[in-house]
Amino acid sequence: MIRMTLDEIAAVTGGRLVNAGPDATVTGPVEYDSRALLPGGLFVAFAGEKVDGHDYAAKAVAAGAAGVLGSRDTGRPGVVVDDPLAALAKLAHVVVGRLPELTVVGLTGSSGKTTTKDYIGQVLARLGSTVAPAGSLNNELGFPYTVLKATPETRFLVLEMGARGIGHIAYLAGIAAPRIGVVLNVGAAHIGEFGSVEGTARAKGELVESLPADGLAVLNADDELVSAMASRTKARVVFTGESERADVRATDVRLDERGRAAYTLVAPDGGSAPVRLAVTGRHQVANTLAAAAVALEAGMPVEAVADALGEVGIVSSRRMDVFDRPDGVTVIDDSYNANPSSTAAALRALAAMGEGRRTVAVLGYMAELGEYEQSGHRDVGRLAAELGVDRLVAVAEAAPVLDGAAGVQDWKGEPIAAADQAAAIAAVLGDLRPGDVVLVKGSRYRTWEVADALRAEAAEEVGP
Ligand SMILES: Nc1ncnc2c1ncn2[C@@H]1O[C@H](COP(=O)(O)OP(=O)(O)OP(=O)(O)O)[C@@H](O)[C@H]1O
Ligand SMILES: [Mg+2]
Repeated sequence: MIRMTLDEIAAVTGGRLVNAGPDATVTGPVEYDSRALLPGGLFVAFAGEKVDGHDYAAKAVAAGAAGVLGSRDTGRPGVVVDDPLAALAKLAHVVVGRLPELTVVGLTGSSGKTTTKDYIGQVLARLGSTVAPAGSLNNELGFPYTVLKATPETRFLVLEMGARGIGHIAYLAGIAAPRIGVVLNVGAAHIGEFGSVEGTARAKGELVESLPADGLAVLNADDELVSAMASRTKARVVFTGESERADVRATDVRLDERGRAAYTLVAPDGGSAPVRLAVTGRHQVANTLAAAAVALEAGMPVEAVADALGEVGIVSSRRMDVFDRPDGVTVIDDSYNANPSSTAAALRALAAMGEGRRTVAVLGYMAELGEYEQSGHRDVGRLAAELGVDRLVAVAEAAPVLDGAAGVQDWKGEPIAAADQAAAIAAVLGDLRPGDVVLVKGSRYRTWEVADALRAEAAEEVGP
């Protein structure tokens, strides 16, 4: 956040200053969780259905908040507005406008936004102060919240942009317009709300439509619906990918026994450098190429980009988080979220790591697929069987996964229907052998409890 008086905040949000003089000033970050407040910060109170943030105003002020932005007077210094969420957006818009030195990077896609945002953040941090907070802060709350983390020292602001419908990304871009816009992929995430992948493409493309003529669109050349977005932007376009037409390109891609990719990074000027990733999964090639394109645009030499990519790690939890247990079992905790394309990517990583080892896939229900609910689950089940997964555990409503697997005639694996998380845990822990590789994947729905059980059991074995 930049330094602003409560009076100014009232002016830009169309609100009313209460219980404070004209000099009361916000000098710290904006928070909506009173526990996260730092001295001088601004506490935003939302009147939610279960919790009313206004009830925490006193606590926030006691913790050092300079003021409260809310929809009613809490008796504390602050600004009263009709709609705190809209006020947050207005404030973010004004703040970013006062930071002309800032390069704003926005990214969207069906899978890998948070992961790639974290990579871009880690790489750009080598060039200058970068704001790219951990987590999936991509909606009408998380986006302005992230913008408001920028200070006059910030050189790069990296923003994840989510869309659950047409107009959502345009709205976010109206709050803080990116100069560099990255579109990773268009897949079957949230397809229930868009009706089709074309609908998803229309929504994601709003990012490149919002870019200025002197901006840059970073588009995945290997995804047809994404590369077609080139015609929807005034900005320069850089294609990333493995195909010939890509400007920022990976050639000679190979995976090691841990499913980590190595490749040759080729820059638009023809320069190249070897990359060896520490993160798991073939799909990280596309994610890291997007980060490379942004870093090259920011002026980083190709060798430095390759070096930085080799050091990027997992920042936001439960995304391809690979850990080894003392008994030789390897766990891939990818349980943060799931849709058919990210599940396919995770299953391929499991297969790559499972060469010569027994593989176990625990798959939870994938939400938001709409009319593709049945086919989406069956498709990932079929892929699991085609990849030769040895034990396939479908948790609760993910049961159609097993129908998909059953359709693969020469599959020799074991299908397991687990009624709930506890049954899945029992099925996995009850038959675990040293050397097994276990993937845990689901879209929230507590599938992560299975990963946690694998973690806890390993910790017990090692002892305190
Ligand atoms: N390029 C990719 N292609 C397919 N799957 C991917 C890709 N990158 C990451 N994933 C997988 O997608 C899942 C979600 O990753 P991540 O949280 O980074 O995505 P997101 O787009 O931010 O999701 P959300 O819509 O929940 O914000 C993870 O399981 C991750 O391993
Ligand atoms: Mg995310």
